[in-house]
Parts: sequence; C-alpha cells; structure tokens
Amino acid sequence: MKEHLQQEFSKTYNKPATSTYFSPGRVNLIGEHIDYNGGLVMPCAITFGTYLLVAPNNDNVFRFKSVNFTDTAEIPLQPNYTKQGTEWYNYPIGVIAYFMQHDKELQGLDMLYYGDIPIGSGLSSSASIEIVTAFALNDLFNCGFSKLELVKLSKWVENSFIGLNSGIMDQFSVAFGEKNKALMLNCDTLEYEAVNSNLNGYVLAIINTNKPRKLAESKYNERVQECSTALTSLKQELDINYLCDIDTQTFNKYSHLITDEVVLKRATHVIQENDRVKLAARALSSNDLQEFGRLMYASHDSLRDKYEVSGVELDAVVEYAKTDTSVAGARMTGAGFGGCAIALVKGDQFDNFSEAVTAYYTHKIGYAPSVYKSLIGDGVRELSPLVKL
Ligand code: GLA
Repeated sequence: MKEHLQQEFSKTYNKPATSTYFSPGRVNLIGEHIDYNGGLVMPCAITFGTYLLVAPNNDNVFRFKSVNFTDTAEIPLQPNYTKQGTEWYNYPIGVIAYFMQHDKELQGLDMLYYGDIPIGSGLSSSASIEIVTAFALNDLFNCGFSKLELVKLSKWVENSFIGLNSGIMDQFSVAFGEKNKALMLNCDTLEYEAVNSNLNGYVLAIINTNKPRKLAESKYNERVQECSTALTSLKQELDINYLCDIDTQTFNKYSHLITDEVVLKRATHVIQENDRVKLAARALSSNDLQEFGRLMYASHDSLRDKYEVSGVELDAVVEYAKTDTSVAGARMTGAGFGGCAIALVKGDQFDNFSEAVTAYYTHKIGYAPSVYKSLIGDGVRELSPLVKL
C-alpha cells in the first residue's frame, strides 16, 4: 500500500502531497508498567509505523483521511477542540488542540494517514499517530518545539485529550528510536542511552494475538490508580516520589505499610520489574541472551500473576515459547489485555518457530495469531524524496 499513497492522496484531494512523514511503532523488550512509576524501560522503535502525507490548503480546515478507517473529517481551524467519540482522528485533533492552545500559527492542511502497525495491538499505533502529526506540524509551521517537547505534548494528548493515564515510554521511543538500538530510558529523569541491540544471532519475533483489547483503557487506568495508592502508603515512612525510587530490598522492609492485598501485588510487580530491567541491561551489554531471555519469562510471569494484565491468549504464546529450544525468552509487551507478545528466536529457526507457534495457538485459542520478524528501526522523520517510500 505505501507505494500507492501519493496516488491515493491525489485521488482524494486533487493535488499532490507536498511532504511525507513517518513515525514508527515500538516494542518494549522489558520494563512493563514501569514508565508511570518513574523507573527504567527498554523499548525500541520498529520498522512498522504511520505514514502521513500532507499539503496545505487555503480553506482554514484540517481534512483527515486514513487508508485504515472509513471515517473522514473536516474540522475548521479554531482555538479549541473537544474529543469526538472514539474516532481515530481524535489523536491528530488532540495534537492540533495543543498547538493552538500554545499560540502556534497553523494553517489548514489536507492530510492522509496510513499505518502498517496492526491497530490496537500494543505496538503503540496511537503514540505513532500523535508523534507523526506533532512532528509534521512543528516542521511545516516552524513552531520551534524540541523533539522532547513533542514527546511531552503527545503524552498530554493521550492523558488529557484522550483520557488514558499512560506514561511517556511510547511517545519517547517512537520519537527517539534508533536503528538496531534499544533505548534504556529512565522515565523519571528522561535520560536515556541507546544500547546496541546486537541479538547475537537471535531475532525479535512479534506475535500478535489478534485479540481485540476490550476494557484495556479502564483496566489500565485502574492499574495506574493502584500504584498511586501503593505510593501513598509507602510515603507514610519513605520520602519518595515514585514506586521505582526504591529497590526490592527496601520495598521488602516497608511493604507492610500496604494493607490492601491487591495493591501489594501490583507494587511488588513494579519494584521487581524495575530491578529486572537493570539486570537485563547488564545481560544485553555482555551479550548474555540466555539471561536476558530468563528475565523476559520472569517479567511475563509477574505481569500474569501479580499485575494481572495478561490473558489466555498472551499466555498461550509464552507457554509455547517455553517448549521451543530455539527461543531464549518471551513475554507480553505493552499494556497487555491482548495485543502482542515478543520472543527472542534463533535467526535460522524463525520460520519453524512461526509455524509452530501458529499451530499451537490456533489449536488452543481457536483462531490464528500473526507472526512478524521485526526489524528495529529509526524514530520519527520526514521521508524524502517524497514519492520514494
Ligand atoms: C502502554 C502505555 C505506556 C506503558 C505501557 C506498559 O503502552 O501507553 O505508557 O505504560 O502500556 O508498559
């Protein structure tokens, strides 16, 4: 499809696009449900993402069309915007709303989106569309936001315009991603290091459970709330801003302050997962993929049992992976409640793995997953020359 986007644009708007932008999706190697707790995460940008073709218009309107959805919209340039139901174009509208609230001078635009990230699969299609829009507006209208400001404003869109209390990991990784690198990001200070993700002969497999993520938003916000309750309890005796300000050892000394059993399980996951990321970083830098894989499995178990954001579909993928000797480790990735799992698979065994996990999953769940061999790609950018996608 991406080769035909120029044609599609001309067909829709009777003129060629003047610029094309791309923002990737992301996978998170380890460090799940950590970002809003001020800890360490290890995401990387992938080569799937969102394409945006634009041309200015003189009509003072934003026209939205997506190859992936049937609904289109034409929205006037105005000082304030509100969310419109659950339409896909709320994400770009939220971005425009932020620019307008900050007195940026925008002009009408005709826009065509196309995403090759499976939507709602936990690969950050929403951060991808936010960042590609923010990057394009900033570039086209010389708004002067830094890349980090684009990340923060896109998080604002997610939190305050859309209503999901997510952390900063997704927007950060799709903006700052680098080819063949994983980002070790400290979500408190926003300091990061791009670490070589030399997988030593292994490749990253992405397994989409193809399970629609019902209730994901309300359950996600519930987990955020539970962590905040845990933090309030710990603050009775500890001077901390985030759960991840303490390690497992300190947590064990003070965990009695958390009286609610469910909240205690959630906090235990967060603090142990943050410690696992530190170990995983060490394993990756010493090329110890077996240890990295062991930590991935431990992360999955904790997300299943303590954080309770997995499900039979994601568990089935990991269950299979544990029986396959070509796999170093596997886990769910992203928010959970369906979506995708990842696995580190020996490169020359990828096809066998793909067939076998598909057979296992289909037998157990009743429908097939989609399996991709992922390439770790660069972050948001303008694509040029225009027509060469
Ligand atoms: C979603 C959120 C992120 C992060 C992950 C879980 O992708 O958008 O901020 O919290 O879930 O790690």
